[in-house]
Amino acid sequence: MSELTPNEILLSEDQIRTRVAEMALEIRRDFPDDLHLIAVLKGAFMFLSDLVRAMPGHVSLDFMAVSSYAKGTTSSGEVRMLKDLEIALEGRNVVIVEDIVDTGLTLTYLQEILRARNPKQLRTACLLSKPSRRQVDVKVEYIGFTIEDRFVVGYGLDFAEQFRNLPHIAVVGP
Ligand code: IMP
Repeated sequence: MSELTPNEILLSEDQIRTRVAEMALEIRRDFPDDLHLIAVLKGAFMFLSDLVRAMPGHVSLDFMAVSSYAKGTTSSGEVRMLKDLEIALEGRNVVIVEDIVDTGLTLTYLQEILRARNPKQLRTACLLSKPSRRQVDVKVEYIGFTIEDRFVVGYGLDFAEQFRNLPHIAVVGP
């Protein structure tokens, strides 16, 4: 177990629920018919499950896993594909569902490899964004909350694989 613990709630369960429901309707409005969501594991698992439950109509899902941080709180800049998709993207309206955009390196990599699979449209939804940390200019069409440069955990996000189970988003500190 790490010595860092979540010591301040940044976003409560209520705040997250309300915003995720708004995002679901926004995405549905933009894609009323065909919609294929791709969740980036592991961080986006909770966001995805709340997002689809708040979304009316038909939607298909797939999962991919990448690792961008080995351990700790700084980006290595290296992105590794751990699990690829199972369903083809050709001609589909695809939305990547990601927990957080920080430096933007992970999403830039993902968007590049998914665009090469010829989706009709490719958009990205992130629950959180830390714009002050951006190293590359990556396009994210749907953002839940913009936050300051602080390391956060909970609601799927981890520190050294801990705290993903928290129902809220908290800041970790010593
Ligand atoms: P990026 O490539 O720097 O944009 O980083 C994206 C990935 O880094 C996310 O998918 C997270 O897994 C991780 N990450 C970035 N910031 C945080 C944070 O504050 N808490 C937990 N994970 C984070």
